[in-house]
Amino acid sequence: MRTQVGIVGAGPAGLFLSHLLAMRGIESVVVEIRSRAYCEARQRAGLLEDGTVRQLREAGVADRLNREGLEHGGIYLQFAAERHHIDFRKLTGGRTVTIYAQTEIVKDLIAERLSKGGHIEFEVTDTEVDRLDTDQPLLRYTSSDGVRHEVVCDVIAGCDGFHGICRDQIPRQLLKVRERDYPYAWLGIIAEVPPSTDELIYAHHPNGFALHTMRTPAISRLYLQVDPDESIDNWSDQRIWDELQRRLALPGSGWTLQEGPILDKSITPMRSFVSAPMQYGRLFLAGDSAHIVPPTGAKGLNLAMSDVAILAPALDRLLRGDARPASAYTDVCLSRVWRATHFSWWMTTMLHRTPGADAMEAELQLAQLRYVVQSTAAATSLAENYTGWMIPRFATHEV
Ligand code: FAD
Ligand code: PHB
Repeated sequence: MRTQVGIVGAGPAGLFLSHLLAMRGIESVVVEIRSRAYCEARQRAGLLEDGTVRQLREAGVADRLNREGLEHGGIYLQFAAERHHIDFRKLTGGRTVTIYAQTEIVKDLIAERLSKGGHIEFEVTDTEVDRLDTDQPLLRYTSSDGVRHEVVCDVIAGCDGFHGICRDQIPRQLLKVRERDYPYAWLGIIAEVPPSTDELIYAHHPNGFALHTMRTPAISRLYLQVDPDESIDNWSDQRIWDELQRRLALPGSGWTLQEGPILDKSITPMRSFVSAPMQYGRLFLAGDSAHIVPPTGAKGLNLAMSDVAILAPALDRLLRGDARPASAYTDVCLSRVWRATHFSWWMTTMLHRTPGADAMEAELQLAQLRYVVQSTAAATSLAENYTGWMIPRFATHEV
C-alpha cells in the first residue's frame, strides 16, 4: 500500500491532521489501536481556547460546535471562602473559551473523514514505523481481520499520545526530555445534573483542589484532587459528592451544588513532560506524544490542535519540495508548548495542596490568588494565557 502521510493514532491530533491534509489534497492513512466506539467515548478534555474554535471553524468542522458549544467569558477563582470572577472578555479585548467535549470533536472528525472517503483503521495491533531517516518511511500494522499491512509513506505523523510507540523511535541520544510528576491526581466525574454554575469554578481548599466544569446544560463535570496512588474503589458516589460539597461550598451566599447520578468516574495522574525534538527524519510528533501538561490550565487538547495546524501546511510544503517550514516545526511548536507548560504548572501549584506541606505553602498560594483577583495586570496575565497565548495563524502560517 502507498499513502502520502501515515498517521499513528486517531485522537484529536491524528484526526484533525488527516482532515487538514485532505483539505490540501494530501492523502493519509490513520491507524488506531482502539475501537471507534472507545475513541468516541473516552472522557477527557472539555475546554477549547478561542484559537482552537477558530481553527475548527476555518477547517469547516464546527457545525455542531457552533450549535452546541457553550461560550464562556471568564472563570471563577475560589479561595478562603470567597468566589471571584475573572472576566476574560474585558481583560483580553473580547476573547472567550468554549466548552465542547473532546468526545464530540473526535466524533465530528471521524464522521467528516469517513464521509469524504478518508481511511481510518480502528482496532489495529502491532503498529511499527521504520526507515524514518529515508524519504520512504514505512508504517506497518495488523488490521482487525488479522492481515499484516505495510504502507510506504512520504511522511509519518506520530499522533499516538503519551503511551504511543513513535516517540521511542527517535534515537535516545538526540532526545532532550524535561519531566515533572506532581504529588496528586484528579478524580473526575460526569454527572447527570445541570451545572450549578454559569462558568467554571477553580477552588483552592485546605482539603485540596476542586473544579466544577460542565459538558452540556444537562451534564456536569467535576474534579477533586486526590492522592496519586488513590484507588477509585475507595470513592463511593456519596463520598465524592460529600467532598465536592465541602471544597466548593460558599457559606452565607445561598449557592448550592446540585447532585445527580454519576455516569463515569476515573482517576488521572498529573505530569508535565516535554520531549524535543518533535521531528526526526520523516517522523513528526504532534500532541501528547511529544508533550503533556497537568489539566489545571486546560491546555493539552489545545496544544495538540495547534501542533497539527502548524504541521499540516509545513508537510504540504515539504511534499512540494520545500523543507524549510518542516525543519522549523519543533521550534515553532515548542515556544507555544513551553508557555503552556509554565502556565499549567503555575495554575496547578497555585491551586493544589501538596500532601504534608507546611502552613507556608497555603499562605503563599493565598497571597498569589489575592494578587490575581486584585491586580488587573495579574488577572490579565491569567486571562491571556487561559484563552490562548500565541495563536498560530491557521492555514497561512509561515515560518
Ligand atoms: P490522544 O488523545 O491520547 O490520542 C492518541 C491516540 O493514539 C489514542 O486514540 C491511542 O489509542 C492511539 N494510539 C496509541 N498507541 C498507538 C499505537 N501503537 N498504534 C496506533 N494507535 C495508537 N486538554 C485541554 O486542552 N483542555 C481540557 O479541558 C483538558 N482536560 C483534560 C482532562 C483529563 C481528565 C485528561 C486526562 C486530559 C485532559 N486534557 C485537556 C488533555 C487532552 O485530553 C489531551 O491533551 C489530548 O487527548 C491529546 O490529544 P492527542 O491526539 O495528542 O492524544
Ligand atoms: C473539563 O471541562 O474537563 C476541564 C475544564 C478545565 C480544565 C480541565 C478540564 O482546566
